[in-house]
Amino acid sequence: MKKEHRIQIDAERCIGCGLCRKDCPAGNILVENRKARVVAQDCILCGHCVAVCPKAAVSMTGFDEPPEEIDKPAVLEPRELLAALKTRRSIRQFTKRQIAPEILAQVVEAGRLTPTGGNAQDVSFIILEDGIERFEKPAVRLFRRLLPLMKLVNPVARRTEIDDHFFFKKAPAAIVVVSRNQINGALAAANMALLAEAFGLGVLYSGFFSMAVNRSRALRGMLGLKRGEQAVTTLVLGYSGVQYHRTVQKEAAVVRRF
Ligand SMILES: Cc1cc2nc3c(=O)[nH]c(=O)nc-3n(C[C@H](O)[C@H](O)[C@H](O)COP(=O)(O)O)c2cc1C
Ligand code: SF4
Ligand code: SF4
Repeated sequence: MKKEHRIQIDAERCIGCGLCRKDCPAGNILVENRKARVVAQDCILCGHCVAVCPKAAVSMTGFDEPPEEIDKPAVLEPRELLAALKTRRSIRQFTKRQIAPEILAQVVEAGRLTPTGGNAQDVSFIILEDGIERFEKPAVRLFRRLLPLMKLVNPVARRTEIDDHFFFKKAPAAIVVVSRNQINGALAAANMALLAEAFGLGVLYSGFFSMAVNRSRALRGMLGLKRGEQAVTTLVLGYSGVQYHRTVQKEAAVVRRF
């Protein structure tokens, strides 16, 4: 639930450099007589004014966490990142090893920190850990009912069997990424998957489970989804029970250059 926030500028600390005004995406800061002032409190609350001020003169009230000082910028090594993207695979075989709660919390943190359009921060997360099969069962029932219909139109469906572990593949945990905004949810999920992989976890995006959630009133109820909220995707998480010896081939990128 979003809280109330106010942007405050400490006039004593402000030296009137104008950096906050220059970086504000909403034209919400004026500098007059060498002092900055906020025009209105209904901006997107992006916090750039807080982050950019060299004198720590700007603050936002009502958050659970204080801003952290940045000593040196975080570095992502491009070759390693690209290699990680190239060699990651969707994992559909998991060991029985459980995932430490702190790791799941960090994966959620990656989602929380992902940018959202207009800084809406409208993505939430449902961690399924204990008795994860409880949630899989209604999805399996739904898909078994739908399968005969799918078989009429889809050749892959004709070769598909919906076993009891069709969605979660015996993985120890899953996180349903929920939002009214598909793009915001998908971006959060992508960062979460990347961090999960950095922790040595295998990840499967389950579009099928998300589809089941969105279509089943029972599952929506079990997960407490509100009207308009969608399961954008579901990250099935666990330690991989499979090893890949080489990369897979993908189509060449379609790029238009002008
Ligand atoms: C949005 C999305 C939804 C997916 N849903 C499923 C799913 O429900 N079940 C499944 O087995 N794989 C699912 N996948 C995995 C894709 O089939 C897989 O990413 C693709 O075949 C490429 O394989 P790779 O991830 O190993 O490179 C999904 C992937 C994405 C990106
Ligand atoms: S960045 Fe800080 S010091 Fe500079 S004008 Fe804004 S509030 Fe004042
Ligand atoms: S929070 Fe963002 S939009 Fe609001 S005044 Fe600061 S920089 Fe501008």
